[in-house]
Amino acid sequence: MKIVQTIAELRDCLSTFKRPAFVPTMGNLHDGHIALVTQAKPQGDVTVSSIFVNRLQFAPHEDFDTYPRTLDADAERLKAAGCDVLFAPREKDLYPEPQTYKVHPSSELADILEGHFRPGFFIGVSTVVFKLFSCVFAGKPEGVAAFGKKDYQQLMVIRRMVQQFALPIEIMAGETQRAPDGLALSSRNGYLSPEQRLEAVQLSIALKALGEAAKAPGAADLASLEEQAMQTLARRGWKPDYLTVRRRADLQPPRGGAATAEPLVVLGAARLGTTRLIDNLEI
Ligand code: PAF
Repeated sequence: MKIVQTIAELRDCLSTFKRPAFVPTMGNLHDGHIALVTQAKPQGDVTVSSIFVNRLQFAPHEDFDTYPRTLDADAERLKAAGCDVLFAPREKDLYPEPQTYKVHPSSELADILEGHFRPGFFIGVSTVVFKLFSCVFAGKPEGVAAFGKKDYQQLMVIRRMVQQFALPIEIMAGETQRAPDGLALSSRNGYLSPEQRLEAVQLSIALKALGEAAKAPGAADLASLEEQAMQTLARRGWKPDYLTVRRRADLQPPRGGAATAEPLVVLGAARLGTTRLIDNLEI
């Protein structure tokens, strides 16, 4: 596996390939990232991953400085998974000057849920992903990029961006990988104390319970079920931002409640101590 830092080196490495398969990450890789590499690899003629902790998607009070950086171990895992090229730019390689041109995703998708609680987050994500796509795919007839469903809204924002800008990139979705107890794998799980790690699975349990309650015959209205689900977590010491049932198509509340025939997803974000966890479940 080749490890490159600059955009020029990356483009040079990829020059003879026609359909890169790309997995962008912020590093501190877990089985979820590796599953994306395994899934994407057969879809392209060269497999590329990136590791870049993107300052643009962190608010000043968030964990940019402490985000785990484990490049050597990550490179080993990527190599073992069959990745051909690792793009690990320094900040000055990707942002040699302040990134003042940005991608602003449409607010009806990007200003709700995660975007509501993390203002500007999806501008930062869309901008870096657009730029990484430009580094990997510029001049290629086509390509494929893989994103995990764990970041459900992010996946949708990227799909729309690719569609709106007519980028010749197929977006693949990887299923959320979970620990044996059901906790969704996330680099931020490493922030949890042993006690918090035991408690953390309660987020996915609450989402499952909310999904079942919403689908039960004669269910109460969604708003009260969502409120109850948040209270359940709050009583256990969590600080929930949202637990909500939405349409998979656009993440808006289902018209006519959960009895709708439209495919739905239950999404949640909550803080356990200082660690903010997100998860979701398609129902
Ligand atoms: O999901 C992530 O790890 C990041 O948001 C991404 C897509 C690599 C952009 O920085």
